[in-house]
Amino acid sequence: MPELILRGLKDTQRVAERLVRELPQGAVLLLTGPLGAGKTTLVSFLARALGFRGRVTSPTYTLMHEYPTPKGVLLHVDLYRLASPEDAWLLGLDERIESAYLTAVEWGRAEQFPSSLEVNLTPLDEGRRLVLLAHGPTYASLLQRLRL
Ligand SMILES: Nc1ncnc2c1ncn2[C@@H]1O[C@H](COP(=O)(O)OP(=O)(O)O)[C@@H](O)[C@H]1O
Ligand SMILES: [Mg+2]
Repeated sequence: MPELILRGLKDTQRVAERLVRELPQGAVLLLTGPLGAGKTTLVSFLARALGFRGRVTSPTYTLMHEYPTPKGVLLHVDLYRLASPEDAWLLGLDERIESAYLTAVEWGRAEQFPSSLEVNLTPLDEGRRLVLLAHGPTYASLLQRLRL
């Protein structure tokens, strides 16, 4: 289970750049960890790495944001306010994920996204611990190749 320590925002940025370089088009990242763990921060660096220059904010109330980047749409989902996990399909997520270049989901669960790469963040006294977990065979082999 690949694990690394992010000592500051520069490290988060470096990870985002690597992920953007290594992930295939249409990839789904499941960002997990408590409030304040740095999930939205990672998405903002993903957006920047994809060439998006606008602001990235938490889609807590709107449930999703779509950032147009030169490579395609970065779909940013936050399911925190979803009443029931089964309601994810109500958002028409499947189709949006399919047409997105990259999808990042906050507060999602592996059962909802059985083919995804989970990025688990834990706050430390200084910085964050990052652990990668593959869900599904596609991401299991991707994880073996991935060098963060
Ligand atoms: N690698 C990091 N090192 C230090 N602070 C970080 C790191 N990543 C995020 N933060 C800080 O943590 C705070 C919460 O981040 P945020 O991305 O909003 O968390 P979440 O979306 O998980 O609730 C922000 O002030 C952010 O700057
Ligand atoms: Mg957030």
